[in-house]
Amino acid sequence: VIAAAPPPGCHGGDGARLAAALGIAPGDVLDLSASLNPVAPDPRPVVARHLDAIGRYPDEFRAVASLADAMGVDRELLVLTNGGAEAISLVAIDAGRGWVEEPEFSLYRRHLPRLEPDAPLWRSNPHNPSGLLARLHERAAVWDEAFYPLATATWTRGDAVDGATVVGSLTKLLACPGLRVGYIICPDEMTARRLRLRRPEWSVNGPAASALPELLQNVDLALWSKQVAGLRDDLAALLRSHGLEPEPSDANWLLVDAPGLRDRLASRAVLVRDCSSFGMAGTVRIAVPDAAGMQRLASALHDAPMAERSR
Ligand SMILES: Cc1ncc(COP(=O)(O)O)c(C=O)c1O
Repeated sequence: VIAAAPPPGCHGGDGARLAAALGIAPGDVLDLSASLNPVAPDPRPVVARHLDAIGRYPDEFRAVASLADAMGVDRELLVLTNGGAEAISLVAIDAGRGWVEEPEFSLYRRHLPRLEPDAPLWRSNPHNPSGLLARLHERAAVWDEAFYPLATATWTRGDAVDGATVVGSLTKLLACPGLRVGYIICPDEMTARRLRLRRPEWSVNGPAASALPELLQNVDLALWSKQVAGLRDDLAALLRSHGLEPEPSDANWLLVDAPGLRDRLASRAVLVRDCSSFGMAGTVRIAVPDAAGMQRLASALHDAPMAERSR
């Protein structure tokens, strides 16, 4: 018996709910709704070496220093956060007002106290959901680079040097959304100090702060972004072989117009992101899987062929 997929929400990452609906373990769902780095090494053995940190209050000093060094950013300008989500909420509340051109990642409008068309612009780069990198001349007050390092093999476009605030997420790059690590690159030290004071004390948990320097040692942006680009080509070819035409993308996902595909794949324990909450009904966002995930997606597509397409 095939259970109904839980209704889509305003984020990806609802694999645990699908697993419950299907009566299987969360780890048995192929979750392509959250766009994690498919070639990141398994972070669990590293984090397991840092579980002692559970017994102490978190100390982020080494984590900040190692991230600043990896990124080539002044550590006084870097604020470590409990995921990109906390970075977004801190910057939004601090700013008080901002503007978001839809479709965009939903947390900007959720956390901005006032949305006003003449207020400073927020943008994701690459853009979520389209997956396209911003053009060189495009400017914003706040850039979200959650997927930038994987798309470009470079940590940041460097907009903080020109006065913008940059928010980022390490949960995508390091494939550890349950661990929660993100950051803000501030345009100046005063902003960084103010945001640190706004942030709840110990918001980056002990195991995350303790494991981060070791997790960063394994980062190879050049290799990972090349591998992801290759897997993205494989994904596009797979979708085309099933009569689907994905949109061009610089990110580790593809958008495709495929009404009904989410439910069909969900019944095979493969989860993709329904884009209705972006105002794009019928479109799904499919994260680039690793080679094993690609095989699984291929069988699920084979078992659940698209109905005769109406357009
Ligand atoms: C564009 C963008 N920014 C930030 C985030 C937040 O990620 P996290 O809070 O897991 O670091 C997400 C998560 O989906 C995202 O898509």
